[in-house]
Amino acid sequence: MQLPPISQSEIDERIHGHVDELLELWQAEQGASKIKDLELIASAIPFPRDQAIRALDLCCGPGDVGRAIRHVYPNAQIDCIDRDPFLTSICRDVNQREHISGMLVVRDLQNDGWLDGLPGNYDVVAMVNALHWFDEARAEQLVEDVHGTLNDGGLFLLAEPACPEIPFAAGFDEWKARQPPRYTRENWERFWSRANVLLGYDHTTLLGPSNSGRIGDNMSVTRWIRLLERTGFGLVDVLLRDADQVVIGALKATD
Ligand SMILES: C[S@@+](CC[C@H](N)C(=O)[O-])C[C@H]1O[C@@H](n2cnc3c(N)ncnc32)[C@H](O)[C@@H]1O
Repeated sequence: MQLPPISQSEIDERIHGHVDELLELWQAEQGASKIKDLELIASAIPFPRDQAIRALDLCCGPGDVGRAIRHVYPNAQIDCIDRDPFLTSICRDVNQREHISGMLVVRDLQNDGWLDGLPGNYDVVAMVNALHWFDEARAEQLVEDVHGTLNDGGLFLLAEPACPEIPFAAGFDEWKARQPPRYTRENWERFWSRANVLLGYDHTTLLGPSNSGRIGDNMSVTRWIRLLERTGFGLVDVLLRDADQVVIGALKATD
């Protein structure tokens, strides 16, 4: 993505005082059922609830999943990483206000070495609605990196779009058309138009054209599972699947 025309501290200053409004618009943009996905991800973590687990919110955006984990694990340290200086500004502001300890790094995950400077040895890495932004080869490399940075017995939890396998596609799509839509153009526009007004420039133009080879919503649940298995995760389970999304938990085996 391109650099914004204003500095990080100016971004922070312009949105400070508006983060609750932005979070509300973000939640609407992300769809009403996301809250359930986040609660499930946090609940599925099998460690004692008072443990000071170390978690990484990968492609954190405004930091929803990190805060959902912290809600269930009040002693957790939550590190966050994302390339977007505006979305991470919301995350930093809210996490500081809620006294959530952890590092926040603004970095592009297309570049190797993205874990440099982060402490590593995580108990949990969570990624929501972001791995599908990458092409399959890069996604596989990122998942391999996640496997490497997890402690033995650590978990990778992800929520991503998933399509049905071809023999089921026609019937599935017919059923899906009768379900309430998760995303609407209006909610996307509401979030970004308010963001652009607060920032004083059009942030969406910095995001660049979407990667034509990206996974998008063209990966079936089976192919997500195979990707996780190829990268070394021994035990993989589907925690939830709905019309749009799959929530998967993957365990790094103990030696
Ligand atoms: C749909 S948002 C989801 C954000 C957050 N996980 C959530 O659930 O609210 C996708 C996120 O992926 C991030 N992202 C996309 N491509 C990225 C890249 N190459 N490096 C780092 N972050 C990236 C975006 O900046 C954005 O925050």
